[in-house]
Amino acid sequence: MKNKILLTACCLIACAVFIDACYANDALSVIHSRKSVRQYTGEKVSRDDLVTLLKAGMAAPSAVNKQPWVFVAVTDGATLVRLAEKLPYTKMIVKAGACIVVCGDMSKALSGAEREFWIQDCSAASENILLAAESMGLGAVWSGMYPLQDRVDHVRSVLGLPDTVIPLNIIAVGRPQGVEKPQNKFNEANIHWEKW
Ligand SMILES: Cc1cc2nc3c(=O)[nH]c(=O)nc-3n(C[C@H](O)[C@H](O)[C@H](O)COP(=O)(O)O)c2cc1C
Repeated sequence: MKNKILLTACCLIACAVFIDACYANDALSVIHSRKSVRQYTGEKVSRDDLVTLLKAGMAAPSAVNKQPWVFVAVTDGATLVRLAEKLPYTKMIVKAGACIVVCGDMSKALSGAEREFWIQDCSAASENILLAAESMGLGAVWSGMYPLQDRVDHVRSVLGLPDTVIPLNIIAVGRPQGVEKPQNKFNEANIHWEKW
């Protein structure tokens, strides 16, 4: 019996040391724990939690610090159902109970060819939201809208977005059932050192 307890304790310590060695700090641990969550308990997400996620989104870098983003946070059940109706790959928002629609605001974007930086800016904000959700024990998944015009039109019509506002994605946010696990996508073949 004593040996069993000792063995279990040693295993636990070894696991802790291994995890520590893999992820030297909290940020790395969150980055490597993040996963797309599509199965939710249905438990509500508080407004405070949504504000925390939105603050994380707005902390993202953006070209020339234009911050060409605007966010629509949706918690109303009927609106979530209407959004999901014509979005076959975004049905999870209904059970999640909340979503954040990350949009580019063209009235705040750069002009000319640089205008397209809005996509990178809003993507950086989106990833911040996903990571913040993971760090708070929430589940989230990015669902792509732009550049698919039918999806953009649908979101625009349900949420009443002005023409200058383009929905890049819908991020479902909710309490995870705990089914999904992070994938290890590290692949040496994707790396070129110094030169191609
Ligand atoms: C641009 C983009 C569009 C995506 N669209 C969808 C989508 O419509 N529905 C969905 O369930 N997941 C969507 N995802 C999530 C991906 O399927 C997911 O990130 C990928 O399978 C890797 O899994 P992981 O996020 O758990 O690492 C999208 C992700 C990105 C970045």
